[in-house]
Amino acid sequence: MLEANLTELESAARRRIEAAATPEELEAARVEVLGRKGALAGISKGMGRLAPEERARIGKLLNAAKQSLEAALEARQARFDSDALARRLDAEWIDLTLPAPGTRPGSLHPVTRIQEEIEDLFSSFGFVVLDGPEVETEYHNFDALNIPATHPARDAQDTFWLTDGNLLRTHTSPVQVRGMERLGPPLRMIAPGRVFRNEEIDASHEHTFYQIEGMMIDREVSVGHLIYFMKTMLSAVFHRDVTLRLRPGFFPFVEPGFELDIHCLICGGEGCPVCKQSGWVEQLGCGLVHPNVLRMSGIDPEEWNGFAFGLGLTRLAMMRYAIDDIRQLQGGDLRFLMQF
Ligand code: PHE
Repeated sequence: MLEANLTELESAARRRIEAAATPEELEAARVEVLGRKGALAGISKGMGRLAPEERARIGKLLNAAKQSLEAALEARQARFDSDALARRLDAEWIDLTLPAPGTRPGSLHPVTRIQEEIEDLFSSFGFVVLDGPEVETEYHNFDALNIPATHPARDAQDTFWLTDGNLLRTHTSPVQVRGMERLGPPLRMIAPGRVFRNEEIDASHEHTFYQIEGMMIDREVSVGHLIYFMKTMLSAVFHRDVTLRLRPGFFPFVEPGFELDIHCLICGGEGCPVCKQSGWVEQLGCGLVHPNVLRMSGIDPEEWNGFAFGLGLTRLAMMRYAIDDIRQLQGGDLRFLMQF
């Protein structure tokens, strides 16, 4: 009698477990089946009235039923657990190869852009791009460039001197000297870089800015070569065919030396407030390398000559992008930088 009851109870309990649709329902089923007031507990209470052999037999059956129901509960619970895990994985799945949300790709600084364009252009003409130290010797920054000790450019007002007698380079021209010393003639090089001057800072003056230097040394280099390269470079930077002129200009390291102007980009040479009605805007300094400069770097001026030029990359960027305050270029303001 008890035995039949037990079999029936067990299969009812099993159905109950299988039918549980949520972990909560399963828990309720567990209490009902295995709990202290549950169905199996009722049977084990009734066993006291049985004869000893009968009690042992039913006890065994009861244990077996209990174990198999516990296993069924566990299996059912495992299903819930793995379903929950699958749902969680689904919800939390991320594609690690996607860019992080909310970031924008970076962009190049306007000075870097122009620098790279000029580097590409001169590289295509066989010029090498050289680098030099920002902390320079007095010799490379001044003496080797034929700048005598009495020259006003050495004035403490313009140059940041270091206590050890070195200085922060005031122009990229010392890289010409290093190029000549290291590579010798013939030589085609450009040297972009950061330079420093002890300036009062305002909308058009910074103590730190960028220049690019260029030099070509060969046999029978002429002002014609210089003009060709300057016109090609400036036309490329400003995306138009620029008109240029040379005026005599003094730089101790070139002879003859020139200031190079181009027709004002705003009025095209008519005259306007930007060019102060002159129609021309100054761009750069250039000239044919002074024989003293060649000689000091071990190049025979009887055999070789060359041209050199130097211009402000920072100023070029300001002109091309119509930036009216130099301080914006190094101010680190993202609203400014994100426009490029
Ligand atoms: N170094 C000069 C300057 O900083 C520019 C220059 C370079 C002029 C080469 C002539 C030749 O102003």
